[in-house]
Amino acid sequence: MFDSYEQFRADSGWEFGYELLGIRPGDDFNACDLILDRHCQAPAKTALISRTYQGERHEFSFEDMREGAARVASVLEAMGVQRGDRVFVLLEPLPQLFDAIMGTIRLGAIAGPIFAAFGAEAIRDRLQDSGARVLITAAHHLPKVREALQDLPTVEQVLVLGSATLQAGERSLSQLLEGASAEFQPYATAADDPMLLHYSSGTTGKPKGILHAHRAIVGHAITTKVVLDLRPDDIYWCTADPGWVTGTSYGIFGPWANHVTQVAYLGGFMAEKWYEVIEQERVTVWYTSPTALRLLMREGVAVARQRDLSSLRHICSVGEPLNPEVIRWAYEVFGLMVHDTWWQTETGCIQISNYPFMPIKPGSMGRPFAGTEAAVLDCERLEPLRPNQEGLLALRPGWPSMFKTYWANPDAYEAKFRNGWYLTGDRAYMDEEGYFWFVARDDDVINTSGHLLGPFELESVLLQHPAIVEAAAFGVPAEDAGEVAIAYVVLRRDQETGKELLRELRTLIRRQVGSHAVPREIVVTDHLPRTRSGKIMRRVIRARHLGLPTGDLSALEE
Ligand code: PRX
Repeated sequence: MFDSYEQFRADSGWEFGYELLGIRPGDDFNACDLILDRHCQAPAKTALISRTYQGERHEFSFEDMREGAARVASVLEAMGVQRGDRVFVLLEPLPQLFDAIMGTIRLGAIAGPIFAAFGAEAIRDRLQDSGARVLITAAHHLPKVREALQDLPTVEQVLVLGSATLQAGERSLSQLLEGASAEFQPYATAADDPMLLHYSSGTTGKPKGILHAHRAIVGHAITTKVVLDLRPDDIYWCTADPGWVTGTSYGIFGPWANHVTQVAYLGGFMAEKWYEVIEQERVTVWYTSPTALRLLMREGVAVARQRDLSSLRHICSVGEPLNPEVIRWAYEVFGLMVHDTWWQTETGCIQISNYPFMPIKPGSMGRPFAGTEAAVLDCERLEPLRPNQEGLLALRPGWPSMFKTYWANPDAYEAKFRNGWYLTGDRAYMDEEGYFWFVARDDDVINTSGHLLGPFELESVLLQHPAIVEAAAFGVPAEDAGEVAIAYVVLRRDQETGKELLRELRTLIRRQVGSHAVPREIVVTDHLPRTRSGKIMRRVIRARHLGLPTGDLSALEE
């Protein structure tokens, strides 16, 4: 495609994303039309291979997916859902999940994916903040959905796949779809109209809704082609769940924008099964995470050697720092270098990356995409620093898949832009050759297995337990997950500590937030350090927990 990074910078850019989609900058379009309908005119091709853990397997053409989306759009329209309304989707990665998201977008409404493993409170937070009118889910999720929806009148309808005894406000989506028309035409949205709302955690408060417009697919299309290197004959597998942004940008939009067949696997992580997917589907391009690769590494080379993995030709990774030893191990097992990519829910698509046409420096996130201006800024003056100096990673705003805003939180959005830069919230440095190296997050957010978890989310659930009066959560390094959460709690005076209480706290977090959020350790203490203004100093607790220097304690009130 390109001979060098320099040639790529000179000859490419976001404008090629428009060209790929058959449109021009300034054109209006509906993302569903461009990624599904556009390909239905071509000879039939498989869009989705759906596999389950039990080995069930189904293939769906682009026309099948177009029809599925059109049926969902018909159902939603008949219920009175309008352009701009929020329709949330709580489903595992089955074809119906793709139909629900694409059908919502087809109608001009805003799709809100929720990770199916989330607990009641995490579900409720998202539905409440977004003012969602409809939730699409499956019968087996109804118990936690009903708990989440108590006293939440904005959600007018719950559409349920599968059979269940339904209550008021719940309807069978399976039945509604049977009579629904597949002729529903994509709504004529403007490129800047909203289409997708993903929630992501910050240090303070509940998760924020990150709103993306139809124009985001311009960024998905071109980065998928250049970074993931997708070609027409590829079988592509993105292991991320569409409840997280990687699973939508690169598990729905990007590959379909490029008219490429993709695999959706329902079954969680298990080394033997993952290798089986690659072998049996003849996967050629694989987008995964450092945590998944570390777990495979732990299972050992022998497990990998039992399978023929020779179909693979390109591997990329995202979400957390990619350790050089993982790159070396993957090279031994797959004969391929893993290409690290860096981006965020807010950026919508890959911004800094390693490319097939550029040498990899293991441990580096790579170099900016053509069209991306990235810099490392001095923390006070917010001016670019010299190479090898650590500072704030920033991007010059204006790429096509940049988020529109934080839902109902314009102040938080404004605060991300300073001195002409978008501040990513990460710390990094750039070397003399222009490669970027991740240092740490610049906030207290915990990145566990590539999933962001806000300390506040954990703390507020812990405080729901009657025995707890204070709580602090923070992340510590962990070999398997990158980082794991640790919680410190202070008990009510008359409260006894013990195994039973710790078990209750873990169960509470699992039920309310999700199993990914359960702290690896819960420490009972009689006091948490605070600033004079009353803020809990997680940084100090973390340093003490790890036996590290606590740094400047002048603000501490103990
Ligand atoms: O801290 C960075 C980390 O994940 C954050 C973005 O998380 P999220 O919005 O959930 O999106 C994840 C998938 C796009 C970043 O601010 N992160 C992402 N990629 C990398 C990374 N940290 C180190 N190396 C990466 N390649």
